[in-house]
Amino acid sequence: MDTLDQLVHQAAADFAAAADSAQLEQAKARYLGKSGSLTERLKGLGKLDPEARKSAGAEINRAKEAIEGALEARRVALREAALLAQLAAEALDVTLPGRGNAGGGLHPTSRTLERIEKLFRSIGFVVADGPEIETDWHNFTALNTPENHPARSMHDTFYLEGHDDVLLRTHTSPVQIRSMLAHVARHAELETMPEIRVICPGRVYRVDSDATHSPMFHQVEGLWVGENVSFADLKGVIADFLRKFFETDDLQVRFRPSFFPFTEPSAEIDVAFMSGALKGRWLEIAGCGMVHPNVLRFGGIDPERYTGFAFGMGPDRLTMLRYGVNDLRLFFDGDLRFLSQFR
Ligand code: DAH
Repeated sequence: MDTLDQLVHQAAADFAAAADSAQLEQAKARYLGKSGSLTERLKGLGKLDPEARKSAGAEINRAKEAIEGALEARRVALREAALLAQLAAEALDVTLPGRGNAGGGLHPTSRTLERIEKLFRSIGFVVADGPEIETDWHNFTALNTPENHPARSMHDTFYLEGHDDVLLRTHTSPVQIRSMLAHVARHAELETMPEIRVICPGRVYRVDSDATHSPMFHQVEGLWVGENVSFADLKGVIADFLRKFFETDDLQVRFRPSFFPFTEPSAEIDVAFMSGALKGRWLEIAGCGMVHPNVLRFGGIDPERYTGFAFGMGPDRLTMLRYGVNDLRLFFDGDLRFLSQFR
């Protein structure tokens, strides 16, 4: 039979050989378990006479303490090793650059709309809006656009199935009618109607799709009605706006005679930059004119007493010019590589 010293050494060696706590507990059972070798020795004490039992008992207890000490030491060592392994496995490189918070930003068209609104507010305009699902009457009839006008054709316009009298508005001009009617109603009891000065930004819809046309696009309508509002006022407002919008005096503005049912006379507004990539090219950016007497009448306003001008411009176009974007579809694709450039 092994001596107690041998047993203690053997136990310490077994514990040291245990690679994890499960193996360590198995090794422990071989010595301190119910039928472990040390436990067997303790059981054997009963057969000894009292004198021998006392000294043998003391020796066995010392051996037991030594084994328990070795066991505990190994437990601690294994726990530390496990912790170190976990730390190594879950290591963080705190010197890595952070992923950052991608900041959001306004869509380039929204930026343009806000800019246009700000500039017109500064000269006394208020912002109005109207429904995108519009009545045929507001969109065409009240704008002096006769029943057989080509703009009404199924080809150009989105109609709503089962609803003959409504459509997706093809321009923001119907907001002119809504603004006039609301303004007149609001000031019905006054001798002289205060001036109307509104701009109406919004989405409009047409059956059209290529690099420069989208079935949904934006317009900003402008309307100024009062006593003695003239074409000269229109020219001044537009020229001033364009210089402020593009932040340059280095541009020319041209009013080219044109036709719209809701204005008389009518003009297209062209702009040409005197420097830069687009130097010297005339670019069409808006339609305008003096509000047709029939349109004033549909708005509840006496055309003998009041006159007004109106314009409708394409903010998508203005955005393309301002930022040098050559494909309108980029605005609607939702590609962050494009959009994030405007943050
Ligand atoms: N509504 C026109 C269009 O969509 C644009 C326009 C032209 C608006 C002349 C106006 C205007 O207010 O006076 O093509």
